Amino acid sequence: MSTSVHESPRFQKPKERRDFLGLASLYSAAIALAVAALGAIRLPMPSVFPESNSRVKLGPLPPFFAAGVTPVPEHRLWIFADDEGLYAMSAVCTHLGCVVTRLDNEGFHCPCHGSRFDAKGRVVEGPAPRPLAYLDLSISPDGQLVVDKQKEVGPEVRLKV
Ligand code: FES
Repeated sequence: MSTSVHESPRFQKPKERRDFLGLASLYSAAIALAVAALGAIRLPMPSVFPESNSRVKLGPLPPFFAAGVTPVPEHRLWIFADDEGLYAMSAVCTHLGCVVTRLDNEGFHCPCHGSRFDAKGRVVEGPAPRPLAYLDLSISPDGQLVVDKQKEVGPEVRLKV
């Protein structure tokens, strides 16, 4: 009683379920690789451009002139009005980025490491290396005040209306 090699269970065709699972895992791996490759290709192309987030509308102009000094804590800045127009000053400390507090007309103080700035934002006491930033202001087509939080301007620049 001899059995041929082809009749041995080791050389029989695998069961269909095994075929299906093997192919499924192969296709899953291929799809995962393809998605990962697409993600790697897209990585250097940001879907949000930084400049689109830096410009924000703050509201109609008259209240800013009436107030004289308007804190805008949600955007970490102040809007000031003087005889020449409006200007925006950042509330972000130039040392390590803490939010400075305003001491009425005396200037600004950073609670983190003690930097002090005068009323124009110039450094009076370190460790802050630079003055507070003045930010670009403009008027939107619908008449609202717009600040660009990433565009610095000189301290003499005013938005004249
Ligand atoms: S973060 Fe303002 S002094 Fe350090």
